[in-house]
Amino acid sequence: MGKVHILDHPLIQHKLTHIRQKDTGTKEFRELVDEIATLMAFEATRDLPLDEVEIETPISKTKAKVISGKKLGIVPILRAGMGMLDGILKLIPAAKVGHIGLYRDPKTLKPVEYYVKLPTDVAERDFIIVDPMLATGGSAIEAINSLKKRGAKNIKFMCLIAAPEGVEAVTKAHPDVNIYIAALDERLNEKGYIVPGLGDAGDRLFGTK
Ligand code: PRP
Ligand code: URA
Repeated sequence: MGKVHILDHPLIQHKLTHIRQKDTGTKEFRELVDEIATLMAFEATRDLPLDEVEIETPISKTKAKVISGKKLGIVPILRAGMGMLDGILKLIPAAKVGHIGLYRDPKTLKPVEYYVKLPTDVAERDFIIVDPMLATGGSAIEAINSLKKRGAKNIKFMCLIAAPEGVEAVTKAHPDVNIYIAALDERLNEKGYIVPGLGDAGDRLFGTK
């Protein structure tokens, strides 16, 4: 069974409070999402395997650790997931990036896939799918399906805010996927928005409405 990790470091909670506020403008919202993504990536990569190498300091020879040559892939779900990408690449700049385009049909709330472009060696990579919001879970489930269909075996999902309904749906559909969340909110409203949430993440990131 995949694990659900709540990454509630004080810095993350503080920044999250700012982006939740309705008067926070696009520039500040974007900068804070980027910073939160970096902080979350730090925790979500805690289990990266290490290799031991021989090095020489100015004082002596010693054994030391380096990140093993594990191939990583980051997959933002378009469009809002793009807001988290640069923040993650700051820590793992050599990761390859795939894109999955999904939008939620406003009536059915079901995800509609419109774009997929992934690294060619999907089966050899470990992936982190990123999207600020996990609401019904439909988009996350579809993105994970899409990666698995193409051969991915080791997938993590990282989001800023999740509804309990979404977490339950993803863990049920994909029990092997570890989920990293900055805040687990109360519920979904009748329109499928997370309460209290932060509104529409894509619109707030890109200044659209
Ligand atoms: C939002 C969000 C997630 C999805 C979450 O995207 O960024 O992708 O909704 O909802 P779900 O868990 O119920 O599927 P949206 O469909 O608004 O598209 P956008 O990123 O293009 O704004
Ligand atoms: N997508 C968003 O951007 N916000 C929500 O609250 C739910 C889905």
